[in-house]
Amino acid sequence: MPNILVTGAEGQLGQCFQAIAKEFPTHKLFFVSKNTLDITKAESLERVYNQHSFEGIINCAAYSKVDEAEIEIEKAYQINHKGIQNLVALAEHKDLFIIHFSTDYVFDGRERIPIKEDNATNPLNHYAESKLAGEKVLSNSNCSNITFRVSWLFSPFGSNFVKKILRLSEAKKDIKVVKDQFGKPTYGIDLARVVLDKLTHSGFFDFHCYHYACKGIISRFDFAKKVSEFSKNHFVVTPCLTSDYPTTALRSKYTVLDTKRIENHLSLDPSPWENALQRCLERIELK
Ligand SMILES: NC(=O)c1ccc[n+]([C@@H]2O[C@H](COP(=O)([O-])OP(=O)(O)OC[C@H]3O[C@@H](n4cnc5c(N)ncnc54)[C@H](OP(=O)(O)O)[C@@H]3O)[C@@H](O)[C@H]2O)c1
Repeated sequence: MPNILVTGAEGQLGQCFQAIAKEFPTHKLFFVSKNTLDITKAESLERVYNQHSFEGIINCAAYSKVDEAEIEIEKAYQINHKGIQNLVALAEHKDLFIIHFSTDYVFDGRERIPIKEDNATNPLNHYAESKLAGEKVLSNSNCSNITFRVSWLFSPFGSNFVKKILRLSEAKKDIKVVKDQFGKPTYGIDLARVVLDKLTHSGFFDFHCYHYACKGIISRFDFAKKVSEFSKNHFVVTPCLTSDYPTTALRSKYTVLDTKRIENHLSLDPSPWENALQRCLERIELK
């Protein structure tokens, strides 16, 4: 069974992998945070490889701050593009596989129909541009690789929409949330479980890209309302428009990922988002 390096282990998704790793005792996972392994530094990667000689990399390291990326453009590229070049160089040299994550924001969402893996990309902000650049490095590489594109990632860890809404609800009882951005939430714990479970599926590497998310198309407003309904701390959620609250980065308004490829090819049935949200809130309460 594979020895795998998990980079960016202290980020949201990295912590999801850590939380479920014990469910997969046959996978030997090495978790490394940014302090131990900076993916922008090739020599740091080589050093970690020499210590652990893994067969694959699950790359949870990323620059993920959408608005800040409009200002820190170079930093976003350094991590999301140059970092992937370094991973690929090592993977090609040592014959490793790479599992990587990207975002629904590589699409502009203007067509308002669910988006398939091969649809044309058109990032609307620098974060998404840098993520797309990283995807391209990987898909043009000679190593075994997969990019999971996910949307609205949430979990009990790190920074995400659900935790932000819960935090806001402690300070005020009426929260305004946009009703004109549509998507599918992705539960990080389920995503990590899918990766570790399907890794040994004979058809896993048949594609370079999978779209993965929970079942159900919703607005951010719907999502926040359910957080209120399911959490102990009830609060009022009032709908507003994206134009009422302009952000530094432009955001796609309809990035609904079509997940049929992974469902059919790897025999998957993603959880409905309400079920995933409930499980996430239970874990948050236990923390
Ligand atoms: N969050 C979302 O809603 C969302 C949606 C769609 C797709 N995604 C994608 O899903 C993946 C996981 O996202 P996430 O929410 O887990 O992001 P995250 O919480 O920001 O985690 C990323 C981790 O990478 C670390 N990191 C930054 N630069 C690094 C470097 N040079 N070397 C090694 N590690 C580095 C970060 O450390 P510091 O925090 O200390 O910098 C952080 O621990 C990313 O590829 C992201 O683009 C996320």
